[in-house]
Amino acid sequence: MKFFADTAEIDDIRELAETGLLDGVTTNPSLIAKSGRDFMEVTKEICGITDGPVSAEVVALDHETMMKEAEILRKIADNVCIKVPLTIDGLKTCKALTGDGTMVNVTLCFSANQALLAAKAGATFVSPFVGRHDDNGFDGMDLIRDIRLIYDNYLFDTEILVASVRHATHVLESARIGADVATMPPKVIKALANHVLTDKGIEGFLADWAKTGQSIL
Ligand code: G3P
Repeated sequence: MKFFADTAEIDDIRELAETGLLDGVTTNPSLIAKSGRDFMEVTKEICGITDGPVSAEVVALDHETMMKEAEILRKIADNVCIKVPLTIDGLKTCKALTGDGTMVNVTLCFSANQALLAAKAGATFVSPFVGRHDDNGFDGMDLIRDIRLIYDNYLFDTEILVASVRHATHVLESARIGADVATMPPKVIKALANHVLTDKGIEGFLADWAKTGQSIL
C-alpha cells in the first residue's frame, strides 16, 4: 500500500520523504491556499522532493480550459499527476490526458458508479473522500469496499487512492480492503507509528540498560 502526503507544506513533505516511507504527494486548491505559496512554485518544489506522483489540481470546470491548465501543470515536472474533478468534463479531460501518457487523479469521488466512470476514463488514480463521506452520514469504508469489488471484477488498472483520511482506522480499513494508496495529512502518517506499549517498552529497556553501565558507541 502506498502512502501519499496530503499537504503542500514543504517542511512536512521533506521530513516524511527522509523516512523513506513517502510514495507521493497530493495537493488541492484548499491546501495550496493554506500554504500561502505560489501554486506553480510550490508544486515544482514538491516534485523535486519526491520521485512519486504529485497531484496538482485544475480549477477550470470546462474541458477546453481544463486541458489548457493541464498543459501548463504537466510541464512543471515529469512526476506531476493532473487532478481533475469527477464531472463529465473532468472525465473527458482524464481520457484525453491519460491517452497521451499523462498521469491523472480523478478527485471528489463519492460513489462507486463515479469510480466506475473514472476507471472507464482511464484514470491513473481515483480519489474517494472517506472522511467527508462519513461526515455526511455515509460509511466511507463501504465505498472503498464497493470500488475494490468493481475494479477487481473488471480488472481495471485504476488505483484506489483513499482521500480525506482523518485517522489511523481509515488507514487500517483501507489496507484490509486492499486499497492501493492512502493520502494522509502528515500528522496521520506519523501517528501510525505510535503505540503506548512501544513507548512503555522503550522506557523499560532503557532503564535496564542504564543499570548495566554499558554503552554501544
Ligand atoms: O486532498 C483531498 C482530500 O484528502 C481532502 O481531505 O480532510 O479536506 O476532507 P479533507
